[in-house]
Amino acid sequence: MHDHSSLAPDAARLPLLGCITVGLGTAVAMWFVGYLTHMPGVRLPLAMTAGLMTGVQLAGGVIAGRSISPGVAGGAIAGLVSSLINLLIIGSIVASPDQPDAVRENWWMMVAGTLAFGPIVGALGAFIGTRMPVAGAGTQRWLARLAVVTAISALPVLLSGGIVTSAEAGKAVPDWPGSYGYPMFLFPLQHMTGGIYYEHAHRLFGSLAGFCTIVLTVSVLVKEPRKWVKLAAVIALLVVITQGVAGGMRVNKAEVAPVDINTAVEEGITIDENREIDTKPAVAWAIFHGVSGQLTFAYLCVVASFLSPRWIAGAAKRPDSLMRTFAMLALGAYLLQLFLGAGLRHTGHAAFQHSHVTLSIVVVVLSLLAGLRARARHADVRPMKFFGTLMAHGVGVQFVIGFIALVVVLPHKDDPTHIPSLIIATTHQFLGALLIAATCIVFAWTTRLVEKGAVEPAAAAAA
Ligand code: HEM
Ligand code: HEM
Repeated sequence: MHDHSSLAPDAARLPLLGCITVGLGTAVAMWFVGYLTHMPGVRLPLAMTAGLMTGVQLAGGVIAGRSISPGVAGGAIAGLVSSLINLLIIGSIVASPDQPDAVRENWWMMVAGTLAFGPIVGALGAFIGTRMPVAGAGTQRWLARLAVVTAISALPVLLSGGIVTSAEAGKAVPDWPGSYGYPMFLFPLQHMTGGIYYEHAHRLFGSLAGFCTIVLTVSVLVKEPRKWVKLAAVIALLVVITQGVAGGMRVNKAEVAPVDINTAVEEGITIDENREIDTKPAVAWAIFHGVSGQLTFAYLCVVASFLSPRWIAGAAKRPDSLMRTFAMLALGAYLLQLFLGAGLRHTGHAAFQHSHVTLSIVVVVLSLLAGLRARARHADVRPMKFFGTLMAHGVGVQFVIGFIALVVVLPHKDDPTHIPSLIIATTHQFLGALLIAATCIVFAWTTRLVEKGAVEPAAAAAA
């Protein structure tokens, strides 16, 4: 029997875990807004981007005010946490564009301003939030929310990674762990043009997801009573580190003509033009990194399921072995389909294309069978219903996008500037990631349908 006393709300003590969770979530959302508004082709003025990011920080404060007690102090700390993380991108603004190891003279004003501004905005948001209905608290809930924030932090990594591949910007930055010789967090914003922007932003998002996973793993090791969940969290950290290293290997194994950053920016390296000198190991690493990237996200989602109060409570239902078989088969088919899709994406080989298209029929059938059964038979188990619906409907949409990709993306494989291809291919790989994650969650839940009477009352009450 597990100790679930941690499901009870913390008494009057300010929950630090809550502040960290809201702060991390706020930072992830702020970075995403910054990424979108600074995209090549969008490029809003820096002041406007900063304004929008501040709006997100304020919203983070509101969430803190609704869920942390005392709210205003919670909002201020959450704001500070997000500002501390934002220093990782402030580095690119204060870095000197001329020298890899130098920063601008007034760097400390920018740093001090960021650190002071965050708590004020957070506290202001929280003040507004305390006037709204209060959301549930308690250590276990914060662990669950932290795990959700961590899984969500991987989404911009997937999206930005898909864009790197579609824009063929995989070698726009030729070195790793540095970027054109600059330390990663001090690579100047001015140099982030075209493909360099896509690739470097992807690395930054990867680091942010890595940071969230470190915080999650440490928190789980400290606060979570179940040993096997601690192990699952440690594995999550190893998985994310492996994923980052695989990205670096993909970069370092490619043979790229050395070019200094000024020439790269002057010549407008919007894409990497040296695809033909991609070495075999580099392509192999790209396929591995593409496949494991999606699996990393799926695994983080499963860990978040393990930590949810609903999982701890269990679902008082008869185990459904047919459901489990459907989910397992669907997962197997999805994994194979992902591998074939990645092979097609990174090599353009006809064999991959034919098998990917053929297997899609099997994937559609199995995803429908598993998704519809989860929806129909287990509608009272919320995650089964929600993710089952996603599996059933999403696979249809994915099938259609696949055909659109066939006629739009493949004929433009040699033209990375073709925007419709970029959007369609990235959407197809991103939806693929969501579907695999949904399938993993449904499969995990099939192991948590326990006989009536086996549910622990304290935990059930908290769900
Ligand atoms: C948590 C960490 C990371 C995740 C989840 C992740 C995920 C992804 C995904 C899903 C793709 C798209 C692959 C495809 O479309 O087939 C991608 C592409 C890419 N990633 Fe990452 N990535 C991570 C970290 C990194 C890091 C640290 C680097 C370091 C250099 C990196 C470099 C790349 C490159 C170069 C590509 C383009 C590959 C190509 O098209 O040739 N990634 N990543
Ligand atoms: C219905 C289930 C399907 C799933 C789950 C699926 C999944 C995927 C995934 C995950 C990728 C990218 C892999 C990566 O980036 O590493 C991909 C690529 C691709 N898929 Fe699918 N796919 C499906 C159906 C289809 C269908 C029916 C077609 C075409 C008729 C199709 C055509 C393509 C093409 C052309 C690419 C490569 C895009 C590029 O080169 O950028 N897919 N698929």
